[in-house]
Order: sequence, then structure tokens, then C-alpha cells
Amino acid sequence: MKKSDKYPALHITIIGGGYVGLVTGTCLAHLGHDVTIVDIDETKISAINSAVPPIYENGLSELLKNHIGKNLRASTEYTSVSEGDVIFIAVGTPPNPDGSANLSYIRSAAENIANQLVKQRTSYPVIVVKSTVPPGTTQNIVGPILASKLPKQSFDCCMNPEFLREGRAIDDFFHPDRIVLGTTDEQTLNIMKNVYSGLDAPVLTTGSTAAEMIKYTANAFLATKISFSNEIGNLCKQLDVDVYEVMKGVGLDHRISPHFLNAGAGFGGSCFPKDVSALAVLSEAAGVHPILLQAVLAVNEAQPLQMIRILERHFPDLKEKRIAVLGLAFKDNTDDIRESRSIPVIASLLDKNAVPVCYDPMAGENMKHVFPNVLYCNSAKEALKNADACLVMTEWPEFSQLNEEFDGMKFRVIIDGRHILTIPDAEGVCW
Ligand code: UGA
Repeated sequence: MKKSDKYPALHITIIGGGYVGLVTGTCLAHLGHDVTIVDIDETKISAINSAVPPIYENGLSELLKNHIGKNLRASTEYTSVSEGDVIFIAVGTPPNPDGSANLSYIRSAAENIANQLVKQRTSYPVIVVKSTVPPGTTQNIVGPILASKLPKQSFDCCMNPEFLREGRAIDDFFHPDRIVLGTTDEQTLNIMKNVYSGLDAPVLTTGSTAAEMIKYTANAFLATKISFSNEIGNLCKQLDVDVYEVMKGVGLDHRISPHFLNAGAGFGGSCFPKDVSALAVLSEAAGVHPILLQAVLAVNEAQPLQMIRILERHFPDLKEKRIAVLGLAFKDNTDDIRESRSIPVIASLLDKNAVPVCYDPMAGENMKHVFPNVLYCNSAKEALKNADACLVMTEWPEFSQLNEEFDGMKFRVIIDGRHILTIPDAEGVCW
């Protein structure tokens, strides 16, 4: 399968069939490459090979159906590494108990790649670190593991961070703001430009450590914008000013931009909390006390509990109060509940002997693993019926349509944590 004479299709193997690996692999197949996704999880592999995405991502199912069994496949074996022009490492880097990044999956992926390449290899495979890793990982961990088994000059490494948002990942892949290629080697650079040929985006070439730092810094900066907006929002609420009006005026300054200034219940997800913590830990280890990063995390921990504080102004004793919790996913368009701000809110409600009654368009099943004993409903209307109060925790577009559903509540105490409701009498967490 040839893309063009200038940019021929490449054999690409992706190690890791999780969120990043699956989306990246499927989109690379759509660009015309021949892609194999490798993962140890057999259930995941057979789901992918049956064109059933093991995660929900908007548009992924259609893309998978178009390419699986043609120029895209999944396997538990590393054999495709041997004929790979490019091998991506897209495994998880979960947090250690101290907040630092756990690199054990990165190390074992690098070892498995090296072992396979020792058996057989093409002339010059490029091993690309796609996972979010601490600065220096590609150069000081991945490179040396490969170099310990393979001859010098027979391979190269590159760090290529991802900037995909869950729920919008396919669109982000095909329309990136930039492509960062962390390599200084010309041959590697040409191969990597071929990987992404067809995408219209500025390419920034850096060293691998700078590329790793770009990823952490971008996420930390976005998280900082959110915590900053939340702190200003908490102040605005006290001053009876609408923080959304304020941030509209602030965001019109092109040096600031209007994006990621939405105050609310705080940020969740698999990336911001983990990456800001990891950056803070490595900053401390480097002897630079991360005052700002720690504040970003502290604001974010406290923010969902502002919802409870406002609720307690209406009901000082929450015992047996029926509280509708609308939204369980960490944001809209996903069933992902990792670090969702609804988790500390539900925990606090239970702690105060209230009765949370939960609804989410997609994430209910996942939340049952965290809170098996709370009530789950099939619609917002059902959750709101006879509720003493309602907390909106996720920016699902369908919540903006809610209107007469609130008429079924016992009391009309409605607290919006995401600036999504359009009814006039909802109270905002920061507005
Ligand atoms: C984030 C980044 O936006 C991506 O660029 C990055 O690639 C990804 O992490 C990653 O490192 O893999 P994601 O976690 O999918 O993407 O979700 P976002 O859309 O960034 O939202 C994160 C959280 O921030 C959500 O809980 C959302 O509700 C909250 N948020 C976002 C706000 O509270 N206010 C805002 O203005 C924006």
C-alpha cells in the first residue's frame, strides 16, 4: 500500500492498545500506513480485530471498521516489530504512590522491542516514545535498553508527544496544532515526517528531552489556566460578579486566548492530575520547589467540594437528602471516570449520609465499580424526581436542554458545576 512516491506507506507497530495507541494506530492506518497494534491483553486484541473499540471514542468505531483486517491489525505477539520501519511505544505511565510516573511498562516495552529486533530487523527501525514520560526517559532509559542489545547505528529513537483530547481525539489527530519531533537525526526526521505526511500542521524539531518537557509543560499550563480560572471564579462569586463575563473580557487578549478559562468543578481525567503531579515530583527532585504546580493541584482538590459547601448553605444537614448528581464522566463525550470531580462529591455526600442519585449518558457502568451501592438512573429526569437538590458535575451538552425535568424535584436547589444549564434559576459553583 503506497501513499505517494515521495512518502511511501510505512510498516508501523504500536506497542500498547490503550487509548493513545489505539487512536494513533487507527488514524495512522487511515493515513495509508500498514499498522499492527500490540498489547498483552488478549480480550482487547480480539475486540480490536473484531472492529469493536474497547473504549468509547467519537468516530473510532467507523475508522476501525474501515481498516481492520486490511492495513490494520492487532496482536499479542511482537513479531511485527521485526519488519517495522517505525515502532511506537504507547504504553501507560501510571502514577506511583508519590505522584511520580511509573516507567515499568516503558522499560518492558523497550526490552521486548530490543529482544525482537535482535532476532530479526529491517535496516533502520525508528523507536518512537509516544507515552507521556519524564524528561530524559527516551535518552537515558529507552535508548540505553535498546543499545544494550542492538548494534550502534542500527536504530534510532525519537520522542513524539501526543496532544489528543478524549472525546475529540480523532479530530485532534487529523488537525493538530503542531507535531513535535524529538530527534536531531536527519534520517529519523525524514522517516517521522513521512509518518505524518498528509497532515497540515507545523512541525517542531527538538531534542528528545525537550519534547518530553513540552508535553508535561503543555498539560501543566492548561491545568494552571483552569485552576487560575477557578480561584478567580471563587472570588467572583463572593463579589457577585459573573466569572464567565470576566474571562470573556480577559480571553479577548490574544496573549491569553479564550480557551481553557472555563471555571467550574475542576479538572479530571487520566492526564492533567497525573502529569501535573509527576512534574511537581520531578521538580522537587531537581531542587526546584514547585510552588505554582502544587497550588494548581490544591485548588483542583478543593474545587469540587465547593459544590458541597454551596449545597450546605441550603441544607446545613444533608442527612437523607436526595441529591441528584448529573454527570459522572470526567468530561462530556466519554465514559471515562478517571479522576472525575464527581467522585469526591459523591464520597462527600455519602460521608454526610445524603443519598446521591446518579445519572450519566455513558459513564454509569464505570462508576458502579467505584460506588456499587449508590442509586443509578437511566435519565436525568428520573434522577431529578423528588430530589432535594441537584449537582451538575459534567458538561454534557444534553444537560443544556434540561428544563421541565427540574419540575419533578422536591426543592429547586440546582447547582451547576460546568456552566452548562440554560434555566434561569440555577446557581453556579463560581458564578
Ligand atoms: C488533556 C489535554 O487537553 C490534551 O491536549 C492532552 O493530549 C491530554 O490531556 C493528554 O495528555 O493525553 P483530556 O484529559 O482528554 O485532554 O481532556 P480536556 O478536554 O483537556 O479536559 C480535562 C479536564 O479539564 C476535564 O475535566 C474538563 O472538564 C476540565 N476543563 C477543561 C475545565 O474545567 N475547564 C476548561 O476550561 C477546560
